[in-house]
Amino acid sequence: MPKLGVNIDHVATIRQARKTIEPDPVWAAAIAELAGADGITLHLREDRRHIQDRDLRVMKETVQVKLNLEMAAEEEMTRIALEVNPGQCTLVPEKREEVTTEGGLDVVANFDRVKRCSDQLLAVGIEVSLFIDPDQAQIEAAKKLGVQAIELHTGRYADAINEKQQDEELETLITAGEAALNENLLLHMGHGLTYRNVVPVAQIHGVGELNIGHSIISRAVMVGLEQAVREMKTLITV
Ligand code: PXP
Repeated sequence: MPKLGVNIDHVATIRQARKTIEPDPVWAAAIAELAGADGITLHLREDRRHIQDRDLRVMKETVQVKLNLEMAAEEEMTRIALEVNPGQCTLVPEKREEVTTEGGLDVVANFDRVKRCSDQLLAVGIEVSLFIDPDQAQIEAAKKLGVQAIELHTGRYADAINEKQQDEELETLITAGEAALNENLLLHMGHGLTYRNVVPVAQIHGVGELNIGHSIISRAVMVGLEQAVREMKTLITV
């Protein structure tokens, strides 16, 4: 039964649309936690388009479940992560021009850069997860880095345009998941998961954590955050 990490970035997106003080993602994190979230995930992007440094610092003090900081494997973010010391850092690729994280981190091609970052985080006891595509070479590279976990990018599954394609992408996730478990890596998954497509992913053997943002915050606009989180939690734990 996977744990639910609720990504609250898009509460900050609404705030930043007016550059005001509301809605506060810190409040959202508290409500998500009360509604059963097992973790709070936030992405401090280089361009600060949604989450701000203050959000991370305050949440470090207020969030009582796991705090999962998504970040690029870059110097500035590494410095911030070392200062704040969240429970977990998920290393993601980042491009200024992308709307959201578009693909997994290419750990094979960026091995030394990722290692510089992950070694520093691991040294102070921060758990490190690498957001990667469901690909054997990436899993092996993650293992070589000595990180605890990988998060498989579920975007291709989420974007599948018909049932056949979705089944194929699900198979790819299942195979990659088994490979990660065989390497004794903790298995997380996320990106593009919704109330409609999440159940088969939640049922994949060994998946320990799902990180879900946009769909939960979208539903929260209509039904409230507490209900939205509870409904997702119910779906992934049946
Ligand atoms: N996992 C990672 C590593 C991400 O970068 C994101 C998007 O910020 C998510 C999960 C959540 O994706 P979504 O908002 O599509 O649920």
